[in-house]
Amino acid sequence: MHIAHSIDELRQLLKPATFRAFVPTMGNLHQGHLDLIQLARQRANAQATPGTVVASIFVNRLQFAPHEDFDSYPRTFERDCELLQAQGCDVVFAPSEKDLYPEPQVFKIHPPAELADILEGAFRPGFFVGVSTVVHKLFNCVQPQLAVFGKKDYQQLMVIRRMVQQMALPIEIIGSETRRAPSGLALSSRNGYLSADELQEAVQLSQTLQALAQTVRQGNAQGVLDVASAQAHAMQTLVERGWKPDYLTVRRQHDLSPIHGVCQEPLVVLGAARLGNTRLIDNLEV
Ligand code: PAF
Repeated sequence: MHIAHSIDELRQLLKPATFRAFVPTMGNLHQGHLDLIQLARQRANAQATPGTVVASIFVNRLQFAPHEDFDSYPRTFERDCELLQAQGCDVVFAPSEKDLYPEPQVFKIHPPAELADILEGAFRPGFFVGVSTVVHKLFNCVQPQLAVFGKKDYQQLMVIRRMVQQMALPIEIIGSETRRAPSGLALSSRNGYLSADELQEAVQLSQTLQALAQTVRQGNAQGVLDVASAQAHAMQTLVERGWKPDYLTVRRQHDLSPIHGVCQEPLVVLGAARLGNTRLIDNLEV
């Protein structure tokens, strides 16, 4: 496995690579990330001439607000590289901030408000500008034919799909299923911030989303669905357990727009809530 720290080094390394399958990460890898690498590896191996799997590790300051955890975000580069190598990754792109942003990044990608200023974007203003800008730049550096993103960050996946479509980028975007602990807790780098007690409690987010998804399924089957009270009940469940929920909501999968009653389109329930000092997100397709 090769490690490139600069864009020039990366381009040099990737010159012979005809098919590039790319997994962007911020490091501190867990099994969820390794699933993405595995998917990329499978797709690269399925090419007539086996392709090259590229992973990036870059904690992107642009997607953190000043009060968020950019400085304390866990950085575990050596261990990440060992895991990537064991998973069959060929090239790691790990630029420093100076390499990727040698001057302030004043050209940015602004995704449409109806997709990016809702849900996560409403609670983390500018988040998707930061994500889209770095992903677009990473795509330019790696020039992949395929890129894999986790469904755990459902809205991020939608924003990236939309960007690729609107900008006519010749990249296939694949969404990988969320990896969960046996308890049902979605794996996340931020789970590392939780105390032992919080870790036990954290599973309530996915359980509350499951209950909400079940209410939606039942309501749709019976032809009566009070979405507002189902969402309010889900919020209340977490509040009573000491959480501070930002949202628990039912949306259409294809554009994340809200529903107001019975809806037979593919749906997704999404939630974000703070447990102690840690903000967790999760979602389930219905
Ligand atoms: O999902 C992440 O880890 C990040 O948002 C990404 C896509 C690597 C961009 O920094």
